[in-house]
Amino acid sequence: MPFSMIPTNASVAYQGYSRRSWLKRSLSALGLMAAGQFRPPGTQAAAQGQSWIAFVSDTHIAADPSKTNHNLNMTENLKKTVRQILAEAIPPKAVLIDGDLALADGQKGDYVQLMKLLAPLSSVGIPIHLALGNHDNRENFREILGDSDLIKSGRVTAIENHHTSDLTIAGLRFLILDSLQRPNFTPGAIGADQAQWLAQTLSNQTDTPTIVYVHHNPDLKTDKALSDTKRLYDAILPSLQVKAVVFGHTHVWNPQGQHEGLKLINIPAVGYPHNPVQPIGWTKFVPIQGGAEVTLSSLDPKHAAHGVTQLLNWR
Ligand SMILES: [Fe+2]
Repeated sequence: MPFSMIPTNASVAYQGYSRRSWLKRSLSALGLMAAGQFRPPGTQAAAQGQSWIAFVSDTHIAADPSKTNHNLNMTENLKKTVRQILAEAIPPKAVLIDGDLALADGQKGDYVQLMKLLAPLSSVGIPIHLALGNHDNRENFREILGDSDLIKSGRVTAIENHHTSDLTIAGLRFLILDSLQRPNFTPGAIGADQAQWLAQTLSNQTDTPTIVYVHHNPDLKTDKALSDTKRLYDAILPSLQVKAVVFGHTHVWNPQGQHEGLKLINIPAVGYPHNPVQPIGWTKFVPIQGGAEVTLSSLDPKHAAHGVTQLLNWR
């Protein structure tokens, strides 16, 4: 079946209790869900045709479209992702891509190729917003994409050395951060200036549920992820309107992380997994009253996590 025809409506993947039991066992074995957090897909949000947002991460696009990693072609994977998003019955309010846009160190040609691959989305009016990761180059990104109509970045120029965005989409506020330190250097950082901007920005608008969208995973136990995770938490935890942090970087799918009531949503890579048990694909994020429903669209429809919807309740 061509990928454009793969149904991302999870009801197709969910075909009765025995199927659900199998999925639960499979997902538990993969560490992809915690007990009691499973929800039959195709539920409330999808059934009501509500607004949704596509979360995409770690595309790792190379200037050369034949490049592969882990025997996977990243260009083909992003093409499949775009086709799947466009095949949805209702278009997304936006597509957010969470960094590691480029293959390794953010060559200008990587971003030229990225623009070509995203054009089918922008040509039908779907806004695209981008974060930067450790395999990006901020200067090259800005030179190729910064002023293009393709990328409606909402860039906040007050922080000149970071690419940040402050957006309202489907009733939620998204603050896209920039955790890139330097190209092809693995750990990320928020930094003092960006943390200060974040805290100030949050204090200016406290009544809108807010999602922080950043490439590196917040992890207080290692400095190989977001090296100043405590600084991030200090900036956002007192602002109770912040409901979740969405991140990529690990190439892992796990939407059920938590820190002091804050949801930690680890979205998978599109380009390739570090661990072959992990899915590659994108996430359908549907805001609902008091939370959200998230559904993985794996590029491999046979993956156990494909099409499974999970419920997140906000703090
Ligand atoms: Fe990555």
